[in-house]
Amino acid sequence: MIRKAVIPAAGFGTRLLPASKSQPKEMLPIVDTPTIQYVVEEAVAAGITDILMIIGKGKRAIEEHFYRNFELELELEEKGKIKELEKLKRISDLANIHFVWQKELNGLGDAISYARDHVGNEPFAVLLGDTLVRSTSGESVTKQMIDVYERYHESVVALEEVEHDKVSRYGVMDGKVIDKNVYLVNSFVEKPDPKDAPSNLVIAGRYVLSPEIFDCIDKTVPGKNNEIQLTDAMRLLLEERAMYGLHFDGRRYDLGNRLDFIKTNIEFALMRDDLKDGLSAFIKELALEMV
Ligand code: UTP
Repeated sequence: MIRKAVIPAAGFGTRLLPASKSQPKEMLPIVDTPTIQYVVEEAVAAGITDILMIIGKGKRAIEEHFYRNFELELELEEKGKIKELEKLKRISDLANIHFVWQKELNGLGDAISYARDHVGNEPFAVLLGDTLVRSTSGESVTKQMIDVYERYHESVVALEEVEHDKVSRYGVMDGKVIDKNVYLVNSFVEKPDPKDAPSNLVIAGRYVLSPEIFDCIDKTVPGKNNEIQLTDAMRLLLEERAMYGLHFDGRRYDLGNRLDFIKTNIEFALMRDDLKDGLSAFIKELALEMV
């Protein structure tokens, strides 16, 4: 049973400056809900009951969001705003959420290493705090990955299909398909030239890792940007153990990137009954003005 998840959310978010200067990019809303709340909800829907968030300087707002605010609850109760009150209470009831500070921002691999004591000798899920994944079947992507882990008892990485000419932006999987949407990973190639890319399946911000990853992170030397990269540690893990890739049925949204951030807000708003009519009318109006 996988009960623990780690959500790294300590990064500077330089791609979203100035919005991310004094507030965490993971707290920027998609419609009216902070990105990281969707991430926590995905984990909870997968049966996760214990979450460790890796945070750092300037990330206090994340802690406050997941703690109860009794004054605000009282105020809502007194004003009879019961729906809002229930919504707020639900956030703090989602799971047991813990926080740890990454002392220096030395990369994603380094961020994960701070979870070692908390996770112990168990497999655990990793969900990037600035990335959403939405499954077309509606089932939590993390849940689908845990199912694969329970079948093979080895680490699992989420894979997203991208257009072939875009592979040079990502970590690309080299492997072979062994079951419906499941790959046995051979290796990962970081940002390859499209003509050298082993596939167009790329690492998509969700992982289920076996605890051996911690020793591999310890052995990983700084790589790109002089940071400890999780992909490099996963390559070391592949020398000792098998690893699987799940090509999930859906989309990934990288909210650390401006265009994705705007597109995601529009897409999620169009899925909301209270907003879709007004927004689609506005988009049509804009489109007409532009022709
Ligand atoms: P990114 O790769 O988006 O890095 O991190 P970043 O530094 O936050 O953003 P840019 O490139 O400067 O815009 C992916 C996830 O990993 C976390 C981030 O908070 C984000 O949720 N992360 C990254 C850490 O927790 N620690 C790190 O040292 C780096």
